This record gives sequence, C-alpha cells and structure tokens, in this order.
Amino acid sequence: MRVAGARLASTAVPQYHLTTFGCQMNAHDSERMRGLLESLGYVPADQRDDADLIVFNTCTIRGSADERFMGSFGEAKRIKRERPDVVVAVGGCWAQSQKDTVFTTYPFVDIAFGPGEVNRLGEFLARERIAPVGAFSLDGRFSGELPLRRARAHQAWVQISVGCNCVCSYCIVPSVRGRERSRPLDDVVAEVTRQAADGVVEVTLLGQNVNSYGRDLDGASRATFAELLGAVSAVDGIARVRYMSPHPKDIKADVIAAHRDIAEVCQHIHLPAQAGSTRILKAMRRTYDRDRYLDLVTRIREGVPNISLTTDLIVGFPGETDDDFADTLSLVTEAQYDGAYTFLYSPRPGTEAGETLEDDVPPEVKGERIQALIEVVQATARERLARHVGTTQDVLVEGPSRTDDTRLAGRTQHNVMVSFPGTAAPGDIVPVVIDHSTSTSLSGRMADVPTVVGA
Ligand code: SAH
Ligand code: SF4
Ligand code: F3S
Repeated sequence: MRVAGARLASTAVPQYHLTTFGCQMNAHDSERMRGLLESLGYVPADQRDDADLIVFNTCTIRGSADERFMGSFGEAKRIKRERPDVVVAVGGCWAQSQKDTVFTTYPFVDIAFGPGEVNRLGEFLARERIAPVGAFSLDGRFSGELPLRRARAHQAWVQISVGCNCVCSYCIVPSVRGRERSRPLDDVVAEVTRQAADGVVEVTLLGQNVNSYGRDLDGASRATFAELLGAVSAVDGIARVRYMSPHPKDIKADVIAAHRDIAEVCQHIHLPAQAGSTRILKAMRRTYDRDRYLDLVTRIREGVPNISLTTDLIVGFPGETDDDFADTLSLVTEAQYDGAYTFLYSPRPGTEAGETLEDDVPPEVKGERIQALIEVVQATARERLARHVGTTQDVLVEGPSRTDDTRLAGRTQHNVMVSFPGTAAPGDIVPVVIDHSTSTSLSGRMADVPTVVGA
C-alpha cells in the first residue's frame, strides 16, 4: 500500500491522466487528445496521483456539469500542491467559458484551451514550462485531423461539423463552440475509409446540428447532409451509419429518403424536441411549434414505419405552467418515443434565457415534473420496445454483457441493447431472435440461420 501523493511520478516514461465530461463531441475530442499524447510518448496513468500530466476535457451545458467537474478539479489542485512539477491542463467547453479568468481563479492550472484548440495540445505542452498557456479561438482546426485512440475497435465517431448557428435561448453551446463550420465531404469520406480499413463497421457522424451540414462549404466541396449519408454508406466495410444530433427544423425529405433507401443508414433518429408546448418552444427559440414537430414525426413514420425516435426534453423552462408541462407529457405519447433524455432547466450565463428570464419554476415543482415525465417516457418506451419481440434483429456485437458476462451484448439498427448467450466476436453482426423486452433493452437467442450476405 502507498500513500497518495507520497511517491513522485515516474520520470522515465511520462504518464497522463485524462478525464472527460459531456457529450460525444467531447468524448471524441478526448480520443484525439489520447492519440496525440501517445504519439508524443505519454502513456496512460491508472490514477491522477501517478500522472505527470493531468488533463480535463470539460462540459458546461448545465450547472450540474460544472459541479461534477469541480470535484475532480479540486483533486488536481491538491496534487499540484504536493507535486508542483505536475502539469494541469483543462480543455473543452467549461474552459472556454472561463477564458478570461481561468488562470487567476485557478492558479494551479498550467494550460487552458477551448474545444477549437484541441489539435494544439502538443504545442502547449512544449510552451507551458515558460509560462501558463491559454488558447481559446473558436475557428481552430478539426480535431479529426489528429491521430486517434479509439474507445472501441469497431465503432467510430466522425466529426462532420463544429459549432452551432442556432440561438436556442437556454443553450451555452454556441458561445463555447462558435459558429458552425462543416468539414469538406472528401475529408469525411477519407477518414471513414481509413477507419473501415482499420476494422470499423459502424460510424456515428457528429455535429451540433448535423442536418445543416455543408451549407457553409463552397464550390465543388458543397454537399448536403443526405449526400454525405450516401457517400459514407458507400464506403466498403461500413455496415452502419448513425448521426447526432439533427435539429428538427432542418430534416428534409432527402434525409428521410436516406433512412428508407440506404441499408446502412440506421433505423433511428434522435430528434430533440425540448418541449411540447408551442408557447415554450417559442421562448426557447426552437423555430418550430408543436404541430410542425409532430408533422415531421408523421412524415418520418410514413417514410420509415418501423423507425425508432428518441429525444431530449427540458423540464421547468422559465414560465412553464402545468398546462405547458402537460403538453410535454402528451408529446411523448403522441410522438411514440423509444426513449428520451430528460433534463432540469439550468440557467446558463450569457444565454438569452439565463440573462433575461427568471428561473421561476420552483425546484420541487421541477422535481415532480421530471419524475412524472420519466414515468411516461418509460411506459411509452416499454410499449415501443415490445414490438421487437418475436422478430429477428441484426445485432452488432460489442462484447460481453455488462450485467452477465456469460452473455453477449450488442445493438440493433434501432440502437437498442440486446443481450443473448452465444459466441461471436466484437464487431460481428449476428441475427438474434428477440424473446423479451423491457423499457430500455431486449434479450434473445442467436438465430441458427446466418444472415445471407448480399441477399
Ligand atoms: N446540439 C444538440 C445537443 C445540445 S446539448 C442538440 O441541439 O440536440 C444536449 C441537450 O442538453 C439539449 O438537447 C437540451 O435538451 C439540453 N440542454 C441544453 N442546455 C440546457 C440547459 N440550459 N438546461 C437544461 N438542459 C439543457
Ligand atoms: Fe444548443 Fe440549440 Fe445549438 Fe443544440 S441546436 S447546440 S440546443 S443552440
Ligand atoms: Fe457539454 Fe460542450 Fe458537449 S457544453 S454537452 S461538452 S458541446
């Protein structure tokens, strides 16, 4: 046994410890940071106390995200006191939001950088010995151009755009990730081709609003999101294409057609609604109302009847009445979601709602509403997932089931987790007969007939 901090970190091979908070964009940026650090000779440390370099990739989407991060940030402060040679680096959205004060408020920080500067981490490490380094421009390069250490061998995230041009009144993302910029189609396809050659079978295209992809590109490189879906699906070896997240205002007929006509484009759309009340949607500046949203749901279901829809919902936006909230509850049953992420409204500094609207729904009311919402989401999801029982689903195997390692687990096209007994390698796509469903997962057994390739 050893006492934390009593041993100096190894000097032979530098070790790094990286903690990631937030969404898939951050998880993906972290894969890039790992790739970059490992290309510089760093190896991962088991714990912060062993590390020569402590890195945080931060999120600031809600107050709770800041709080979660502050716990581990405090530990870095303690370690820096015990071992002044340790380098503390903080990147990501929270760092960007604190760009003017981070070094004065948190003097134990050596390097701070925004999400647009991930690709310069190596340069910062070379400079920090001279003075603390901060870099926060919002028009840096795509982290997708860096080396990569993928979290999973057969699944990859691919950045297609950064930033967001929407003005959702509650949202801090545009101020910390900047204006939207698309990555040229050829670059995206080239990266997917490299991933496929490396064994990847499923890609998830990432952007804050993937559907507005390409509008800022000019000339020959100009492409629509539907064209991008087609080009990525055509890459040899890619069996599944997913994306996160579309904005409902930008889903056009060509994208629905891609889900219908291109086998690789998965039967799932995460379609953030945020609220069911037209009045609240307006105050949120979502640019659609309840009817237009439900109309889109109808058009999607006409095109792709068995598709899964999931969503994000915010509870307790300023001014939300019982009637407004009832509209969110009924939206869940009308839209027939397969699942939903539910969030308590959190006022964010610098946002329109955070600065101009009073956070006037009392915490206990917010709490009751989110509880009621979760119940309706679960009941709806339970009914929806039951439609799979008795069918055979192609399951992309991820590995042993987390709750029972004698079983395998993987996902269907609809993005539902399935567990089943059997032997198959991660990355295999196997047919599974579904015997049982809950509100979040399926279980079954491997069908004895293998899927016929090319049928
Ligand atoms: N660009 C994506 C995701 C943005 S953040 C999109 O538009 O879908 C993920 C989710 O966090 C949002 O969809 C929203 O539901 C939630 N969220 C964002 N800001 C919030 C806030 N201030 N309070 C509570 N939830 C928030
Ligand atoms: Fe935020 Fe709205 Fe942009 Fe999503 S679309 S990142 S919720 S501003
Ligand atoms: Fe958080 Fe930034 Fe993502 S604020 S949710 S990490 S875009």
